[in-house]
Amino acid sequence: MNMKLNLNNASLRISAGLPKQFPADAIPQVALSGRSNIGKSSLLNCLLGRKSLARVSGQPGKTITVNFYEIDKKLFLVDLPGYGFAKRPKEDQLRWSNLTDGYFTKNRNIDLLRLVVQLVDPRIGPTKDDVDMLNYLKETGTPFVVCATKCDKLNATERKAAQTHLSSHPAIDGAEEIIYFSSKTKEGRDALWNCIIAHCNI
Ligand code: GTP
Ligand code: MG
Repeated sequence: MNMKLNLNNASLRISAGLPKQFPADAIPQVALSGRSNIGKSSLLNCLLGRKSLARVSGQPGKTITVNFYEIDKKLFLVDLPGYGFAKRPKEDQLRWSNLTDGYFTKNRNIDLLRLVVQLVDPRIGPTKDDVDMLNYLKETGTPFVVCATKCDKLNATERKAAQTHLSSHPAIDGAEEIIYFSSKTKEGRDALWNCIIAHCNI
């Protein structure tokens, strides 16, 4: 991996609750998307080699902001709020969809979005919400990579089944890559960085 980013120079720029708070810096953005509790914040910490820069939720579905992490002044990693948490009150679900929707549709700098990392559960495959998101990404021509998360939990049989299921899933067809990832073992970390770097010309 040819890494030109200083990962020690990473910080949370802003937890944005409104689209007008999204930063306007002319640097590429890579967004993490997936349902609540799928492991977005953990993946971000794993990428950055940090224990707890992004808050990992004990209580899923608490984060209803778009969190912009600035990496070495060259890249924003964008932690989108998790969707599909059933116990979340209706008004929160509405805020989630408005805000995440706002990231894609009310974002002055959407042209800076280079890649979406779509996280899916390898045991169950894409949920209805995941499929909606994947279809949206395809319709808008947004490059996306699929990360199957928490792979440390899979035994060999489950892994094989997940590979068969994900690689033939119509919603995933069109992904740049399917990466089997674990924030615990760091499996997939280099592959994901390579994909990010390639799309951001870093
Ligand atoms: P929201 O912020 O609610 O949308 O959740 P999130 O997608 O950011 O998930 P988060 O990273 O907070 O992780 C949710 C739970 O899964 C935590 O208890 C993590 O410790 C656990 N987890 C995340 N990644 C992994 C992984 O790779 N392996 C294992 N075994 N557990 C993980
Ligand atoms: Mg999170």
